[in-house]
Amino acid sequence: SLNELQGSIKGRLKLAVVTTATYFTPHLFNRFLRQYPEVNIRLNVTNRNSILERLANNEDDLVIMGQVPEHLNVQSHQFLENPLVVLAPANHPLVNEKNIPISRILQETFLVRELGSGTRLAMERYFEGVELGLKVGMELGSSEAIKQGVIAGLGISVLSRHTLTLELATGIIKLLDVEGFPQMRYWYIVHLSEKKLSLVARTFLDFLITRTRDVLTEAEKTLIEAGMHIAETP
Ligand code: PGA
Repeated sequence: SLNELQGSIKGRLKLAVVTTATYFTPHLFNRFLRQYPEVNIRLNVTNRNSILERLANNEDDLVIMGQVPEHLNVQSHQFLENPLVVLAPANHPLVNEKNIPISRILQETFLVRELGSGTRLAMERYFEGVELGLKVGMELGSSEAIKQGVIAGLGISVLSRHTLTLELATGIIKLLDVEGFPQMRYWYIVHLSEKKLSLVARTFLDFLITRTRDVLTEAEKTLIEAGMHIAETP
């Protein structure tokens, strides 16, 4: 029966996620653990480069990342959209502009993530694609540090929309409506192709693929009911 099957899904689930995934994965863990209370999740949080190393060394059951590795033999499943957005402090002069040209945005100073960050890689690839140079200000080692830098007026930046829920709700950070943005990326759950997944790992993988959208919609509804303002992506 379903109950017996659920009861047999227990034990440790070792996960690693890129830093930018920590902003939405807790809702998924919560829902999964309600269904499988005997699973014990151990989470490692680090940037893209470290995740690639962990994958190569087979350190986790599964990893969540923003771009499939190019030089490893892996199986990956895309399970959610990941919009990359341009953020600025609330008092920035471009906040109410529509369709801001890229050439205009390049006059601004950009705060960037550290080398090894997937967010940084995606941002660099985008601006290389349009063949225009960025004015890079400070390099800051995390999305949290970037957001605090943006709030303090050190510059503007590009981050996953998922990292900004709280700051957009309070209005302290605004998204800029820049031509070409949001850049649509995706979240992937990944493991080495030769890896034999445990029953718990297979169950979690299946849960992410089939349930993520519902769970996150439900979580967002709960936040709105609790009085949180969910800002729209321009
Ligand atoms: P990161 O996130 O910037 O923390 O490495 C990876 C990604 O979004 O691809």
